Amino acid sequence: MSLLIISGSLNSDSYSRLLAREAERVLRADGQEVATLDLRDLPLPFCDGDKTREHPNVLAAQRMIAPAAGVIIATPIYNYDANAAVKNLVELTGAVWENKVVGFLCTAGASGSFMSILGLANSLMLDFRCVIVPRFVYATGQQFANDAIADVKIVGRVAECARSTAHFAATLKLAS
Ligand SMILES: Cc1cc2nc3c(=O)[nH]c(=O)nc-3n(C[C@H](O)[C@H](O)[C@H](O)COP(=O)(O)O)c2cc1C
Repeated sequence: MSLLIISGSLNSDSYSRLLAREAERVLRADGQEVATLDLRDLPLPFCDGDKTREHPNVLAAQRMIAPAAGVIIATPIYNYDANAAVKNLVELTGAVWENKVVGFLCTAGASGSFMSILGLANSLMLDFRCVIVPRFVYATGQQFANDAIADVKIVGRVAECARSTAHFAATLKLAS
């Protein structure tokens, strides 16, 4: 069973990338098969609902998402939603998301946007029948320092989210 971690921030000093790296570290230490997709390394066109779906980098992203039973999306919260880069990735890759288990690692400026990932979660659930892992991470800038996660509670929550995603994915894959 393979897992994919997507880092969706295009910021070079991203906090959510630190969450993605921690999830990767935990899953590798557990012996899981993990691939990573950092959207900074794979520039994507804006989805036009037509020809952009054939762009070589879009096809490369599809090839990474397709074999994953579980996907962990690390995303900044922008304007009470996942950032446009993550939403664009989902728009571009569409049906390849069908029946995936999806977990979320979110970073935001403040606590008020706590429920803002629900728009993307609902879309994945209702459009593509994804199973959304109820344990998700929401961290703000105060929980990071010196290019690392400073809050041990967040470190623990990342591990719980990563392991829950792996567990749901393995269980549902066995059941299908
Ligand atoms: C365009 C933009 C919109 C943002 N919108 C929100 C928001 O709605 N709610 C919030 O709590 N933080 C918001 N923020 C703050 C970011 O979520 C925060 O800086 C976060 O750390 C970004 O993630 P990253 O460090 O992984 O890039 C916004 C930041 C930007 C640049």
